[in-house]
Amino acid sequence: MVKDHSIPRSGCLEKLNAYGELININMMYLQRKMNRQSAQFSLNPAIIQDILTYAKPLGHNEKPANMNLGFGFLYYGLVRSLRPKHILVIGSGFGFSVTCLALGLKDNNEGQLSFVDPSYSLTKDGPFKTIGGQNTWSSPEMVHARFARFGVDGVVRHFKMTSQEFFASYSTRRLPKVQLGFIDGSHAFADVREDFLGMYRHCVKNSYILMHDTNIYIREMLNHSGVKRWLNIVRDRKDMFEAVDFPFDSGVALIRVRRHTPWDPES
Ligand SMILES: C[S@@+](CC[C@H](N)C(=O)[O-])C[C@H]1O[C@@H](n2cnc3c(N)ncnc32)[C@H](O)[C@@H]1O
Repeated sequence: MVKDHSIPRSGCLEKLNAYGELININMMYLQRKMNRQSAQFSLNPAIIQDILTYAKPLGHNEKPANMNLGFGFLYYGLVRSLRPKHILVIGSGFGFSVTCLALGLKDNNEGQLSFVDPSYSLTKDGPFKTIGGQNTWSSPEMVHARFARFGVDGVVRHFKMTSQEFFASYSTRRLPKVQLGFIDGSHAFADVREDFLGMYRHCVKNSYILMHDTNIYIREMLNHSGVKRWLNIVRDRKDMFEAVDFPFDSGVALIRVRRHTPWDPES
């Protein structure tokens, strides 16, 4: 029998095209389903409850009664939307900020978080070194246990030292630039200033810096805290920074680095 090698008639071609399209549509559907299955969204009710219980937010506008993480949602959402490769956190009592930020990195599937805290405690070191510090970060085992509960121990690297010591050795550690920062260590004006300037030195244009406790009016009045005072200095440099304050509960400010040039605030 002689085989027919002629071009298929138009009806066959149309059928082939229709099959091809169907296969494409199915492939797209499958791809989307696979993406959805591999995508993570950590903030389910059980995790939110654990964050409220074990990472113990204080002054972040949280409302445990209705599972509201307050600013914690802002921290997580910022990480999801900005997708920073490197986050730097200075100071945390029980790890609330670190956990919310690190869960964002985990769900983004990229990025690392450096966490600096010398693990001061209010009872051991006194109120001039820390308010709210509970000696939570004394040993690598304690740090690991606290973050492993949320599955972010692989994302977080703890540096048990003061921010001053950390910034002095930043370059030798070969850490990447900071794309998102969180300042919540010592609240003395001189220390907040140093933390901000240290962070800023390792930022880039369009990095973001969060500063917690912008709304602790009485401590600010008694000169026990200088977060708001420092925020006002930053706000005066509209050419360099864009800032928005959320003056609810203890307050948090979000600052965007508009221009990254060497800065001496006294000049
Ligand atoms: C609970 S947190 C934040 C402060 C608190 N929100 C407040 O109202 O003062 C304090 C944490 O900052 C840490 N800390 C204090 N001085 C620091 C410094 N120089 N560098 C880094 N972390 C510091 C303490 O160890 C403590 O764990």
